[in-house]
Amino acid sequence: MTSGDMASESGAPFLDPTTLADPYPFYAAHRGDGPVVAVNNGARETYLVTGYAAVRDVLASPEIFSSKPEGAPSINFYPSAEALLKEKGFGRTPLIIAMDPPRHTAHRAVTAKLLRDKRVHKMRGEIRRVAESLIAEFQAAGRCEFVRDYAWRLSVLVIADLLGVDRDRIDDFKRWSDAWVRPLITPLTEAEMLDCIGQMAELQHFLVGEIEARKTAPRDDLLSDIAHATIDLGAGEMPLRQHEQLGICEALMIAGNDSTANALSLGMLRLVEFPEVAARIRGDMKLVEQFAEESLRYEAAVQSNFRTVKEDTEFHGVAMKKGALVFVSWGAANRDADTFANPEHFDINRTALKTHLGFGGGTHSCAGAALARQELAESYDLLLRRLANIRLQPGWTVSDIKRTGGIVTHGLAMLPLQFEPLALAADEQSANAAE
Ligand code: HEM
Repeated sequence: MTSGDMASESGAPFLDPTTLADPYPFYAAHRGDGPVVAVNNGARETYLVTGYAAVRDVLASPEIFSSKPEGAPSINFYPSAEALLKEKGFGRTPLIIAMDPPRHTAHRAVTAKLLRDKRVHKMRGEIRRVAESLIAEFQAAGRCEFVRDYAWRLSVLVIADLLGVDRDRIDDFKRWSDAWVRPLITPLTEAEMLDCIGQMAELQHFLVGEIEARKTAPRDDLLSDIAHATIDLGAGEMPLRQHEQLGICEALMIAGNDSTANALSLGMLRLVEFPEVAARIRGDMKLVEQFAEESLRYEAAVQSNFRTVKEDTEFHGVAMKKGALVFVSWGAANRDADTFANPEHFDINRTALKTHLGFGGGTHSCAGAALARQELAESYDLLLRRLANIRLQPGWTVSDIKRTGGIVTHGLAMLPLQFEPLALAADEQSANAAE
């Protein structure tokens, strides 16, 4: 059903929690309905865009499809929590992901400069060191819960290192990061939300203090870059204001932690589910990058995000009214057979592997994609070098592995793994000795 007039009462039941937990059967069932599917969302006219070309068209048209969260579904909104963040911290900060041009263009230029290639490339060694130390903690035991013991810890530690958070504050940083991300993915009671807000306020004070200190004593880290960054909002380059500095840090934490942890876990599940793929990569470790790309296509860690229609428009044959809500589904677009042959098949030899939309596309495409790709490739490389015969723990099958998340984020609740430790290869031993 694709008629805008009929959408409000009787669209497809996409927003049902069971569907959101595993949206792939829904995408498959509605593929024949065309690239735009009307979705049941009470009185709100709502669509899900599932076709690859149509998703790209939405992303390329911010003048029609706004990223501002006007009337979008939000969980955990409590006025008392908003008030507490203002009282104890610095209140809500501007997030690039929810901006439209020209403001977005200015903020995007600053973010792109901060995450420039040189800074990201410098992280490669650090990512490897963090990965080594995490694997060392569970390698000898022959088992781990991968989501908790590796994926979350690696993604938080890498963002902490990127910002330049001192090692002795890492435990606090992890606690604060969790408090930022938890309300985005889990429904919370008001009391739980207020607890998270208390920690978010602590984080804001910590970041403001660190940025202030970097103004007079800069280091080689992102917090120092943020302390000295400028933005051109139409009146020439001006220093970033405090809430803009905080907004950048918070956006990196929100965008960087959850999505990377989810992508790492989903990729690891693929290595377990398709042992023949793991064996091929072990025979030629250069394949880890192709494997990472195909994992991002096959099951997207960021499934979709919403846009709001700014003016009445005709889009791929569907009449949309101003104010309608549009979910752009990267997960569904990545399984569009018009773009990806045999899309349900996991194939690391696909041509044009990077054409997937796992990192979004258009003006809001992932600003941290280069860093995320490094984290994925370094992780799979080291995990396969250190752990043999990676499999699920006894009693578990692939179909027991539950998903978490909602409309936007998508990951695994847990991934209990078993393996045998592998010794360092001779070439690695000599490389380590030479360091
Ligand atoms: C595998 C891991 C990751 C995935 C799958 C992912 C995915 C995405 C997607 C789909 C978007 C587009 C959102 C939209 O259009 O509404 C996005 C935006 C963004 N991502 Fe990522 N991301 C990942 C890792 C990271 C990391 C590590 C960082 C930062 C260090 C980061 C920073 C950002 C930022 C700042 C934006 C907003 C860009 C803008 O609005 O212009 N992401 N990401």
